[in-house]
Amino acid sequence: MLTGQKIVLGVTGSIAAYKSCELLRLLTKKGAVVSVIMTESAQRFVTPLTFKALGAKEVITSDWEDPDHTIPHIDATRDAALFLIAPATANILAKADQGIADDVMSAAILARRCPVAFAPAMNINMWQNPATQRNIAQLVKDGAIILGPAAGEQACGDKGSGRMLEPEEILELLEGAFTPRVLDRCRVLITAGPTFEPIDPVRGITNLSSGKQGFAIAKACAMAGAEVTLVAGRTSLKTPAGVRRIDVTTAYDMYRAVMNEVSRHEVFISVAAVADWRIANPATRKIKKGYTDTPELIFEENPDILASVAALENAPYCVGFAAETDNLIDNARAKVYRKRVPLIVANLVQDALGQDSNTVVFVERDQATPLARASKEQIAQALVAKIAQEVN
Ligand code: CTP
Repeated sequence: MLTGQKIVLGVTGSIAAYKSCELLRLLTKKGAVVSVIMTESAQRFVTPLTFKALGAKEVITSDWEDPDHTIPHIDATRDAALFLIAPATANILAKADQGIADDVMSAAILARRCPVAFAPAMNINMWQNPATQRNIAQLVKDGAIILGPAAGEQACGDKGSGRMLEPEEILELLEGAFTPRVLDRCRVLITAGPTFEPIDPVRGITNLSSGKQGFAIAKACAMAGAEVTLVAGRTSLKTPAGVRRIDVTTAYDMYRAVMNEVSRHEVFISVAAVADWRIANPATRKIKKGYTDTPELIFEENPDILASVAALENAPYCVGFAAETDNLIDNARAKVYRKRVPLIVANLVQDALGQDSNTVVFVERDQATPLARASKEQIAQALVAKIAQEVN
């Protein structure tokens, strides 16, 4: 929900300044309008041109040289939704704490009316120094947001706290802060990804689901304030921040995990591509070529997880997905009735598989609402809005 938000990115003199370039790129990609302020020492690490080329609306480096601004340190943050200083050195934290305004950056911090966030980046000893810790404590008291720092290997060779958070982590935190909490404290259980049915210890039957849509929904729910449990089939996707993840392999594992968890949840979103059938007699040892006749696979049916949840006495609000190759609305509506769920998100396989965007229709008993083609993230946000409407 960063679209159209005006953010001022303050870059101070730390080697982590190179990460701010990526941060700017990620923010503008999300639709934020980003102005940059750089200190003199920041310009020793990266140049204003780098930020300009990456899409900054403007780059302010001094109070004296920009003819577009009458008073840069005041105008820069006017109407801004957030002033984010990343990287924030020990020096800028100290100045912000004391209200020192001896350059365009520190003056802009003092003059701002919008919220301010700092992503500290410094050597571990500088971070742990009582002076820095005092400054941080005071800044928090004054309402500043402190993002990080992370621990790890530092540019100086030391190890420990002081590394700036990665740009993706900062982005995620900001997205969370800018998202309305329409599912505040709502407990949401989600299944995502493919299932895998073993034939023998090295082979199995799976499908082409990437898990991207389910993970995007887990992230959108968490950002909207929900407590999210994600039951995930095999995927290498990263767990979204704040989401509790349970990894499973087979459809039956997924069924057991869901049935174990569901009573604590108010919403169930079944995004996983669940195998309808499993191998009844998977071999315990690898099936060798030549030593047996052509193997025959005997199938037995897996439980329908979504239908089982929807049939529970105190069923949560259930959302299913339907990937169809044809007759989209009719097939999806048939699932609304067959699985007894209020909402099916339907899409055509050819529109979605392996892609980052999709075209979906919200199919309910009495209506079908098509959404314009959108990224899986945007679809997740639309679904969160729909669920919030239904459950609140
Ligand atoms: N689903 C489930 N458990 C299964 C099969 C499907 O929970 N064993 C869920 C999926 O997560 C999805 C919805 O049911 O939300 C529809 O899945 P889909 O595979 O399209 O439906 P099926 O019931 O398998 O119907 P068909 O294969 O005939 O299209």
